[in-house]
Amino acid sequence: MRTVRVAVVGVGNLGRRFLGLLGDKERLLASKYGLAIRVVGVADSGGTAIAASDKGFEVDRVVRLKEQGRSVAELPGGIEGGDAGSLVCDVALDVLCEATPVCFEQGAEPAVSILRAALMRGIHVVTPNKGPIVVAGIELAELARSHGAQLRFDGTVAGGLPALYVGMRDLRGAVVRRILAVPNLATGYILDLLAAGASWEEACRDANENGVLEGDGSWDLDGWDAAAKLVILARAVLGAGADVTLADVLRTGVRGIGAKQVRDAQVRGGVLRLLATAEEDDDPNRSWHLMVEPTVLKRGHPLAGLGRTEMGVVFETDIYGTITLKIDEPTPLPSAATMLRDILDIYESP
Ligand SMILES: NC(=O)c1ccc[n+]([C@@H]2O[C@H](COP(=O)([O-])OP(=O)(O)OC[C@H]3O[C@@H](n4cnc5c(N)ncnc54)[C@H](OP(=O)(O)O)[C@@H]3O)[C@@H](O)[C@H]2O)c1
Repeated sequence: MRTVRVAVVGVGNLGRRFLGLLGDKERLLASKYGLAIRVVGVADSGGTAIAASDKGFEVDRVVRLKEQGRSVAELPGGIEGGDAGSLVCDVALDVLCEATPVCFEQGAEPAVSILRAALMRGIHVVTPNKGPIVVAGIELAELARSHGAQLRFDGTVAGGLPALYVGMRDLRGAVVRRILAVPNLATGYILDLLAAGASWEEACRDANENGVLEGDGSWDLDGWDAAAKLVILARAVLGAGADVTLADVLRTGVRGIGAKQVRDAQVRGGVLRLLATAEEDDDPNRSWHLMVEPTVLKRGHPLAGLGRTEMGVVFETDIYGTITLKIDEPTPLPSAATMLRDILDIYESP
């Protein structure tokens, strides 16, 4: 049995569910993968806690505490106001699991600094947070390579859909000519409610009440989330590398779309979704064409059948034809599960 010592930074929707999964799957992880994953450090916005031994925390206890809206600083070994970055320095770790908010306005901090510190110590990193991957993904990948660590971010694109694994690994030998994606759940949810007769305000309120949309929703509604996911896909699957940044995405969000527009799409036999497209550009001055815009997906389009809580990614390839992946994600569990998938992949790969 191999013990894997992990720290979890960010114990919200995803981090909390990930911890729950470690408890639920403990026996399977031992019997099928020979792994004992121990949570030896945790951090939230209130502070940090370090376990007394390599046995780690009782994960159910941490989950219960967070469900009560309390801070991990209340755990034994807790430090109120403790800095999450200190976990990387003060605890013997194998994997850092990072699930804090995106925080683009702050340059994706504190995530970038925490990931950098972990990778420089040879600690593997698993994160579903788009922020550090879009802002500093190229640098972080290089740090990982040079320090013998792995950087995994499967959960950054379309929730629990293994789009990055398929795109980066399973399309061996192929040239991916174009990526089409509906990677943002909130906009599909709202457009679907509009199609069902809700007003814009009603649809946004529903999305807010159901935790699909957060705050004023500008991150989702103005297309930033879809654009960030497209950048990650283009770099990882098309090989666009550092040539592609968020600023390169031609972006139109869904704000202000009316029920009439959505129903017109239905009358024309289609469905309106915020479509993200990435492909090599014909324009000799630009290498890549990246676009996010509301698009009528006509019947027959591989993503036309997406339901209210579904997301999808299409790879158009030279040798495997067109591959379509989709996921129904009514709760954040599949997104949280990507952190487990990433850890298992790290320990399964040679
Ligand atoms: N929710 C989804 O369905 C989903 C899907 C795919 C990817 N993601 C990505 O996953 C990440 C986490 O999402 P989420 O929905 O779990 O967010 P969330 O519910 O807001 O949780 C964020 C967690 O980070 C903690 N935190 C905030 N600032 C911190 C800091 N400076 N140091 C340490 N911890 C800090 C928060 O602490 P408190 O608990 O004290 O507030 C909370 O535990 C985001 O980057 C998101 O984009 C989310």
